Amino acid sequence: MNLVDHKKRDAKKVEQMFSNISARYDLLNHVLSLGLDIRWRGKVAQETGKINCDKILDVCTGTGDMAIELCKFWKGNAHIEAIDFSRELIEIGRKKVEKAEFYNKITFREANAESLPFKDEQFDAITITFGLRNIHNRLKALQEFYRVTKPGGCFVCLEFSQPKNQFLAKVYSFYLTKLVPFISLVLGSHPDAYRYLGNTIKDFPTPPELINLIESAGWRDVTYDTLAGGIVAIHRGNK
Ligand SMILES: C[S@@+](CC[C@H](N)C(=O)[O-])C[C@H]1O[C@@H](n2cnc3c(N)ncnc32)[C@H](O)[C@@H]1O
Repeated sequence: MNLVDHKKRDAKKVEQMFSNISARYDLLNHVLSLGLDIRWRGKVAQETGKINCDKILDVCTGTGDMAIELCKFWKGNAHIEAIDFSRELIEIGRKKVEKAEFYNKITFREANAESLPFKDEQFDAITITFGLRNIHNRLKALQEFYRVTKPGGCFVCLEFSQPKNQFLAKVYSFYLTKLVPFISLVLGSHPDAYRYLGNTIKDFPTPPELINLIESAGWRDVTYDTLAGGIVAIHRGNK
């Protein structure tokens, strides 16, 4: 697999890269985050609990972990649409959900975040976890999320960020550039996909810059919290 250009993020190449790492995707997520990814997605689900949700859209759902977390949080009382452009990842998600009690509460669909197959004002909440970084035209996608959200609805984004503490930032940089590709190789995945991960994290807007980007798509009252010493940030906004 060739290293995907993290600045261009060509949709076809990004989609192929994620499809190529689908077999080990969940395992590496949990190993590389030391299991913290599960807790972080739980926080995103809690954020949606600030309003009443009947219908939630999880964008860039991958293997559906965020969609499943939303189902658990809402105890099956909200319907979740889960979209991603990688058929391979979605298929893994479908199989996981078949085994879960609320299998009929999640609908998976192959779609591009920049051009959503939904009418205006359909959803109470939009969630996206570790997805925005990978989208070719982030502003266009954020505008699409806004379009399909009901007035009064909300947007919650969980994404990697960079620690402010200089020492932690150096350790984290070493971890991303050296250890992560190595661990991915040892666990049978593609190191270049994990080099791309590190590159996109380093190049991603800082939390205040991301507030500006989200607001420029129409969202208001945008705020954020950082978790794990600044390794991830949760942004939320309202329509
Ligand atoms: C790092 S994974 C995150 C998956 C999942 N949300 C999670 O929390 O593990 C990023 C996902 O974004 C998807 N993706 C990237 N760009 C996309 C786009 N423009 N439209 C739809 N899916 C996209 C990829 O296929 C991949 O599944």
